[in-house]
Amino acid sequence: MSDSDHAALMDGVYRYQRYIYDLTRKYYLFGRDRLIAQMKPAPASLIVEIGCGTARNLIRMAKRYPGVALYGLDASAAMLETARARMAAAGFADRIRLAHGYAENLSPATFGLESGFDHAVFSYSLSMIPDWKQALEAASRSLKPGGRIHIVDFADLAAWPGPLRAALRRWLSLFHVEPHRELLEVLAAASEKTQQYQLLGGRYAVLWRGPADAILGAMAIVARQSQRADKSPSGAVAAP
Ligand SMILES: C[S@@+](CC[C@H](N)C(=O)[O-])C[C@H]1O[C@@H](n2cnc3c(N)ncnc32)[C@H](O)[C@@H]1O
Repeated sequence: MSDSDHAALMDGVYRYQRYIYDLTRKYYLFGRDRLIAQMKPAPASLIVEIGCGTARNLIRMAKRYPGVALYGLDASAAMLETARARMAAAGFADRIRLAHGYAENLSPATFGLESGFDHAVFSYSLSMIPDWKQALEAASRSLKPGGRIHIVDFADLAAWPGPLRAALRRWLSLFHVEPHRELLEVLAAASEKTQQYQLLGGRYAVLWRGPADAILGAMAIVARQSQRADKSPSGAVAAP
């Protein structure tokens, strides 16, 4: 799918949803406020949210961390229109800068910046971004040395009864949301040193924070493991 097709798809998903988005997602996008509370950025930090949607999280960050500079990127022009209205209503139109673009192509130049961000946030966006690995690589390249990535997203619902799990997956797929099993493996592998991996609500959601290097290293490890499993005669990998 081309970038412009994906943007049109996202606009299609959110054309009407955006008006009720914050109200309806309040109860099922768990962990977003916990992610924000755990960030604790230094004053004057630069924070980018990738797939910022209605700017719900950016507005909360602006309230909680008055000294930081905030940036939001989204592929849906419709969502950004709602974000602008929400920011203006909350009095933060000047504190937050938005850009229309693709996570996979993020760079500081997207916002006219010469140096990188201190923090990159993915809140329930990796499960909608077609090339989530490329998005994590682009975010890592866009950070200053020592910069940190913060992720909250759907996990594998492994502790949920099968029929409920299947029903939720079917419902999410209506919105083109695809929880990535491999992302969970990457985050678990990336947590061996940082210990910043939390599973919430019967493995409904995963919360992770840590240095960008840890994610890139873990992606390489998981890719090698799956190549080995593919090559091994008995090592069939279960379909996601
Ligand atoms: C489920 S919403 C989450 C919004 C917000 N982060 C939150 O927590 O409320 C996912 C957002 O990711 C955006 N998105 C999907 N694919 C994207 C891409 N490739 N690049 C940038 N944004 C993308 C969608 O347009 C949507 O606004």
